[in-house]
Amino acid sequence: MEKILWLISSPRGDASVSQQAGNKVIELLTHRYPDVQVVVRELVKNPVPFIDTEFAEKMFMTAEDALNEPSLQVSETLIAEVVDADAIILSTPMHNFTVPAPLKAWIDQVVRADRTFKRTPVGKAGLLKDKPVYILVASGGIVLGDDATQPDFLTPYLKAIFSTIGIHDISFAHLERAGAEKASFDTILNNLRAELEIVWG
Ligand SMILES: Cc1cc2nc3c(=O)[nH]c(=O)nc-3n(C[C@H](O)[C@H](O)[C@H](O)COP(=O)(O)O)c2cc1C
Repeated sequence: MEKILWLISSPRGDASVSQQAGNKVIELLTHRYPDVQVVVRELVKNPVPFIDTEFAEKMFMTAEDALNEPSLQVSETLIAEVVDADAIILSTPMHNFTVPAPLKAWIDQVVRADRTFKRTPVGKAGLLKDKPVYILVASGGIVLGDDATQPDFLTPYLKAIFSTIGIHDISFAHLERAGAEKASFDTILNNLRAELEIVWG
């Protein structure tokens, strides 16, 4: 493993549970792969622009022409980060049952017809190479299982988004009740670490 892309999409900085969980995963991976380079993309501190008129007009140009099209340069940079990474860690809160807006802005720049997916008669087919993506989701409430008190549009949405661009090796860790007392949060993180040690050693 030479390069990891770490996407952070919480507005809460060091207090963010998904970011702290991401830190644990990065610690583990850098211990396992001491020479690994970690590229950090902070989507709240350095927001990705929303799609504008020019992007919407130019987004269907050929992949070759897009390389020189100014309005597609942010998109090209973000796609290159995904392509270059051997693995992706995504730290994200759940906001209003789904992904936070800064992450949605990143998705809109990265999921591009004829660049990261192609259209076929039977639907969209991914153009990128598969790679492991580890998604750390923090939520204030319970979102999974029989005790869930709310819908979860985030998990199926992110699965669909990554598989649209060809990335199917997706794992989730849900850090539920992230506002609960610190002791139970530490247990969650320790469990996560133990689980990852089994996966990544
Ligand atoms: C705008 C906003 C919307 C939220 N929506 C939800 C939600 O739909 N479901 C939920 O369980 N928690 C929700 N929360 C709580 C966050 O998911 C929780 O605080 C979590 O810790 C955020 O992750 P972070 O610590 O990485 O920022 C919301 C928080 C904010 C600020």
